[in-house]
Amino acid sequence: MSRISGFSKLTKLEKIDWLSKHYLSEYPDAKTIIQQYWNSNEALQKLHDEFTENTISNYYLPLGVAPNFKIDHQLYAIPMAIEESSVIAAASKAAKFWLDKGGFKTEILGTTKVGHVHFNYKGSTEQLITFFESIKSKLIAETNSITKNMEKRGGGIKDIKLINKTEALENYYQLYCTFETVDAMGANFINSCLEQFGQTLEAEAKSYKAFTEEGYFPEVIMCILSNYVPGCLVRAEVSCPTSLLGETQEEALKFVQKFTQAIKIAEIEPYRAVTHNKGIMNGVDAVVLATGNDFRAVEAGVHAYASRRGQYSSLTHVSVKNDEFKFWIELPLALGTIGGLTSLHPLVKLSMALLKQPSAEELMRITAVAGLAQNFAAVNSLVTTGIQKGHMKMHLMNILNQFEANAEEREKAVEYFKTHTVTHSEVINLLEKLRAE
Ligand code: MEV
Repeated sequence: MSRISGFSKLTKLEKIDWLSKHYLSEYPDAKTIIQQYWNSNEALQKLHDEFTENTISNYYLPLGVAPNFKIDHQLYAIPMAIEESSVIAAASKAAKFWLDKGGFKTEILGTTKVGHVHFNYKGSTEQLITFFESIKSKLIAETNSITKNMEKRGGGIKDIKLINKTEALENYYQLYCTFETVDAMGANFINSCLEQFGQTLEAEAKSYKAFTEEGYFPEVIMCILSNYVPGCLVRAEVSCPTSLLGETQEEALKFVQKFTQAIKIAEIEPYRAVTHNKGIMNGVDAVVLATGNDFRAVEAGVHAYASRRGQYSSLTHVSVKNDEFKFWIELPLALGTIGGLTSLHPLVKLSMALLKQPSAEELMRITAVAGLAQNFAAVNSLVTTGIQKGHMKMHLMNILNQFEANAEEREKAVEYFKTHTVTHSEVINLLEKLRAE
């Protein structure tokens, strides 16, 4: 294993040669595999190379589609980029199930995003409050060149508040800033505004007489948006008479009872809530990725929201009143449909076209629905057949691929496992038997 300086300055081939020599010498196929994933369209490859740094190849994920999603009376085929088997099948199944039961209804509960100027100040709080009030309009005015375009699109800075955090941390104050970024995710816009606020704050403080007399000046520590966006919130819901949830009245009642209990367990038991919400994120992340959004930001924000009451809990909820079953989710989602990858990555552009060029609000609705559908399908399986039946059926192809099964073996295996439970060892046994024949 070797160190190197100036790795980023090497050409792509030089980087691969260096890695092959120093890290992959016992992996002779390395170069072939890396190059196998290059796109023969040079312009397209260059585009992908330039999304990030030190690129050596492309990393594929399947892009699938879950059709039949009726959301607020409109039909969608939802693009999903995900490697896990059965996620898209589960989404499609849930979509179809709710299609003739009114579909999914959604509501945007807010679109506000947040960022902070975190700063230290040792002097008197009253002095700082007076100073802040005197410069507040200047803080906003000096971001004029940054906010001009956003304001034309209906967004901009909503408010700036001074927050005293000194009880939690000595000398620590914040400018708590709220933004509307319309169809942009807005990270660059928000961070640019915040950095300008920080500069204005320090510059104005330098010539503020009371600070000079006091000998203490605000010192900016950092300026950054928050990925916690409880004010950028969407709700999605399905509902139907309980009688539609089973073939017979008895089956429906049993299902409702077990399903409801499963959701209540996820509400009060963090161990279960984490897995429950992971299933929701199977759907959410797949749409977030397919539409070129930042899944790390979404993940961080969603899980923080799931802990907002001090204990990690379920993102979905259920109620049964007057024989009406209602199942819903509330998700904080900071998504964009312009800027970032959305105008660069050809498959992201295609996903946006598939969704009929949604606004950010529409994409929030669609993504929340994908999460709710995923959770419905997962909990449905869990409280009825168990998750492994469907999961292992989908996983069968992965196992067959792993053992390089040919077309005939695949066909026979699929037939055989229509009536047998898929396990790793059962697949191997079957393949051995077929190969011995
Ligand atoms: C697997 O990726 C997701 C599930 O575990 C979710 C859940 O348990 O609700 C099936």
